[in-house]
Amino acid sequence: MKIKSADFIISNSRVEQCPNEPLPEYAFIGRSNVGKSSLINSLTQRKGLAKTSGRPGKTQLINHFKINNNWFLVDLPGYGYARVSKKDKKIFQKYITDYFLKRKQLVSAFVLIDIRHEPQKIDLEFMQWLGENAIPFAIVFTKADKLKPNAIEKQVQSYLDTLTSSIWEEAPPHFITSSSKGIGREELLDYIDSINR
Ligand code: GTP
Ligand code: MG
Repeated sequence: MKIKSADFIISNSRVEQCPNEPLPEYAFIGRSNVGKSSLINSLTQRKGLAKTSGRPGKTQLINHFKINNNWFLVDLPGYGYARVSKKDKKIFQKYITDYFLKRKQLVSAFVLIDIRHEPQKIDLEFMQWLGENAIPFAIVFTKADKLKPNAIEKQVQSYLDTLTSSIWEEAPPHFITSSSKGIGREELLDYIDSINR
């Protein structure tokens, strides 16, 4: 799929205030610093479209980006950021869960996982919660440039093994990406195109 346009539309903390056009959308979620905003910039090839930072906790709102004038990419705040206060964590959690439970336009979530990390409870629990609520999702492994090809394969296989031995009979679709190298960009865009309704 070719990206002809990518425009920031709106940021907010309430699902009710998200754009009300009936366009399909795809939301990126995962731990803080995993590379959600960077992936949006890589997919759209627009540096600086979504704000990124080396420090976790950069994205704090629900951000809508309109692509090719007919669908949305959504950048969300990360979860699991230790330096956010307990109260803020609850607020974040509430509007993220509200977003996923109420957003009718959502076609699929993408759960981002740093390819270097072993499976972590918070990610597994989040995926389980998506499953329980019948919210479709795919896994996107990020920062693949940080590992050699055989290490990539090993990490991904062991991650998928964890999923199929604990939560799922079948692993969800998965993608291996690097925003800095553009790895996986075409595959991810083609997948979005293929599930676009
Ligand atoms: P929050 O908004 O805080 O939840 O973080 P985020 O998930 O949006 O992460 P962000 O895109 O801001 O990136 C976090 C850090 O990871 C930045 O320093 C990025 O440059 C770096 N990063 C993101 N993607 C990649 C990648 O593919 N490869 C490498 N090497 N670094 C990456
Ligand atoms: Mg971000």
